[in-house]
This record gives sequence, C-alpha cells and structure tokens, in this order.
Amino acid sequence: PNLPPRLEGGLPLLGHALEFRTNPIRLMERARAHHGDLCTVAMPGTDAIVMTGAKAQEKFFRVSDDDVSQAEAYRLMTPIFGKGIAYDAPPPIMKEQLGFFHEALREARMRTYAQGFIDEAEDYFSTWDDVGVVDMYAVGNELTIYTSSRSLLGNEFRQQLSGEFAKLYTDMEGGLSALAFMAPYLPTPAFRKRDKARARMVELITKIVDDRRERGTVGDDMLQSLMDASYKDGRKLSEDEICGLLLTIMFAGHHTSGVTFSWTGILLAQHPEWVAELRAEQRALLGDRSELTLEDLRAMPKLDATIKEVLRMYPPIVVMMRKVVNDFSFGGYDIPHGSMIFASPTVSHYMPEVFPEPHKFDPTRFMAPHNADKKNPMAWIPFGAGRHRCMGIVFAQLQLRALWSHLLRNFDFETVEDSYEPDYTRLLVGPREPCRLRYRRRSH
Ligand code: HEM
Repeated sequence: PNLPPRLEGGLPLLGHALEFRTNPIRLMERARAHHGDLCTVAMPGTDAIVMTGAKAQEKFFRVSDDDVSQAEAYRLMTPIFGKGIAYDAPPPIMKEQLGFFHEALREARMRTYAQGFIDEAEDYFSTWDDVGVVDMYAVGNELTIYTSSRSLLGNEFRQQLSGEFAKLYTDMEGGLSALAFMAPYLPTPAFRKRDKARARMVELITKIVDDRRERGTVGDDMLQSLMDASYKDGRKLSEDEICGLLLTIMFAGHHTSGVTFSWTGILLAQHPEWVAELRAEQRALLGDRSELTLEDLRAMPKLDATIKEVLRMYPPIVVMMRKVVNDFSFGGYDIPHGSMIFASPTVSHYMPEVFPEPHKFDPTRFMAPHNADKKNPMAWIPFGAGRHRCMGIVFAQLQLRALWSHLLRNFDFETVEDSYEPDYTRLLVGPREPCRLRYRRRSH
C-alpha cells in the first residue's frame, strides 16, 4: 500500500502523543507544512492520518459510516450517556436516536427556546452589580447550564431543579478524563461520583415523565420530544434511554455554546470599534423596544457574522476523529483500516489561502459579498460538515445572539488580562483561566 508520509520526530511508544496533548494545533500545522494534505502522526497503539485542506476535509466528512466509526473517539462518554445510547449503539439504532434530536430541534420549537434564551439573559444579568470583574469562562458555562436545562426540561423544572441538575452535571463531567478512555469503569472516586449522579438524574427524569403522564401535561421541550418518540419497530424509549439521550444533547450543546459565549466577550472587549457597529445594528433594529423576539434574532447580520468569526478563530472542537474500519484511498494514498483519521477546524480556519490574514479578527468575512462560510463549506467547519454536521447550529446561533444582544445593549466590557489564550488541556477548548473582563452597566 502507498501510505501517507509520516511526520518526523515522536517518541518510542508514545509517538507524537505528548505534543498532541499540549498543543494539537501546532502538531497538525507542522504535519501540513511538511507533508501537505495527508500526513501520518504516531499515537500510542495506532497511526493517525491528519487530513487538512478543503479537499481532504471533504473526504473526511463524506466517508461512509460503514468505512469509519465515531465510537472510538467518543468511548469515554459511554458511562454518562449509557450503554446502547448514541455512539455506543449499533449505527442503525444511533441513526434513529439522532432522528429523535431532529424532532426536538425542529423549527416550531425554536420560538419557545428563543424566549427561554431571552428570559434567562434578563434574569442572569439583572443580578450583576453596576461594575465588576468576571471570569468569562465561568460565566459562559453557568449561564448555558440554565439555558440548556430549560430547553431540555422546560421552564417549570428549570426553576425547581436547576440547582440539583447543575450539581449532578458537574459530577458527571468530573468523570471525563484520559483514564475514562482506557478504563471507564474503574472504581475510582470520580467515576463512582459520576455513576451516582447519573443514577440520580435518571430518577429525576423518571419523576418528571411520570408526573407529565399522570397529569396529562405536555411540555414544549426536548424531553417531550423524546417522550413522544418511538423506534421504527414501534417501541417507545425507556426512561433510561430518554435520560441518556437528554445527556447526549446536553453534552453536545453546553460547553460548545458556553466557550463560544466567552470568546465572543473577549474578542469584543479587544475590538471596541466593532462593538460600535454592533450597537448601531441593535439600535436600528430595536429603536426603543427592549423586548426581543425570535424575528429580531434573525435580523442581526452583523452579530451573526461576529459569532461566525469567533467560531472561526476559536472553534470549541479543535479536532474531530474517526477510526477507519475498512480501507479506503484518497489523493493517491491508501488509508488502512485500524488507523485513525483526524480533521481540525482550527487548522482549517487559519489557512491563509482561504481566510486571508487569519490572525485578524474581521467579522466582515462572513457578510455579503464575502460570505466565507457559504463559499467554503468544507473549510469553515466549526460545526463539522457532511453527514454528521452539528444538529444544534440554529439553536446555538439563536442562543448566542440572544445573550450578546442583551449584553451589547446593557454593558461595556474591557480586558483585564495581558492576553487570552486557548486551553488545549480541555476536551472542549475555551479560553484558559483566568480570563477576566471588567464590565460596567450602561446608562440608558
Ligand atoms: C455534532 C460543534 C452546539 C448537537 C457536532 C459536531 C461539531 C459540533 C463539530 C460534529 C462532530 C463530529 O463530526 O465528530 C458544535 C458547536 C456548537 C454546538 C461549535 C456551539 C457553538 C450544539 C447544540 C446542540 C448540538 C446546542 C444541541 C442542542 C449536536 C449533535 C451532533 C453534533 C446531536 C451529532 C450529529 C451527528 O453525529 O449526526 N457539533 N455544536 N450541538 N452537535 Fe453540535
């Protein structure tokens, strides 16, 4: 076979794994610089082929699910999502389960979700003083727990349960570590806590489900979609499956939105001249109105472009992975089964041939007539592409616009740290803490 060229360097046994853990972007950029669109790096026990450039990325996103598997990359999630849920399910079942999410994220639900984002922003920021210093990573993650739990379980339960929900969720996250890839069921304290939290979560959800069925009430939330769903053979979902799928969607949508919220604040604090443009857009759209609507959220092209530029510079998912189960070839090379393939939004988003002056913050890239996202669907890939493209795109964008529309109209932000850098030690990459900003409430 004609294998893709190998990257030089790397250690015996560990290969390039240490560098991949501390700075995966530098490693993958070097792979591209030395060997082009396909380059093999060595990981412990397996080779990984880094696929960069729009053509190779397109291939990555289009390879059939029969030839590559996502299960390997998401194995550490199984104890949280549950056995037989999502990536742990056989591909045809997983496909049906993803179909249930489509229902939960359908257009008709967006009005309720959008109202939730708007209300949560009002409530959350009304507790802030007139001036203060906040850590943006912490704010993003806290706020999006509230917005997420509300869309998952409905407002009533968000009000009653979000304290306990947040704590259980944190305990489950504590179980996400390198060890969870290797030995996810060792009886360590963190894993025991994770399992206890999940069991309690199933209990809570079962109570809500029973309560709704008894009282005959219907929610306008993701839980309701899963309660109403059934498999093709007519079987309804068990409470354990409902809970597992709710957790799957929570983990897909929470930190990803949270860190994007945080980076938006940091980049806006660094670019006051662009904030002025965004405020003008808000004024032109809303005039004296303070009540936002779903239609308003869809009529903010500058804010929309800003969030796209934030996602270009700091995509929360810096690398996507698949395990090759059947050999395939691309670009004259053979990609053997047993290896992994990697595609990296971050590497893609800094290719100067697609995004000129990639280190410059320039939201106008995503406005007419440039429309860099539409022109380069296989190069602007913060949400992935192809068959497994993110299902939460509209949900995430509406949420981020609702939160930032509120903040732009009500607060000024200034930087506090000398610099703000990505923290690659996290699974979902956000700004390294501390990442504080100073805020001041605006007088109207
Ligand atoms: C898949 C990014 C928010 C639900 C993905 C993938 C990416 C991504 C890169 C593809 C993963 C792969 O191919 O291996 C993001 C980012 C978000 C975000 C950057 C926020 C800024 C959300 C939200 C939800 C969600 C809010 C749900 C409410 C999903 C689901 C999938 C997915 C269900 C799996 C799709 C499939 O495999 O067919 N997301 N996501 N995401 N995302 Fe998102």
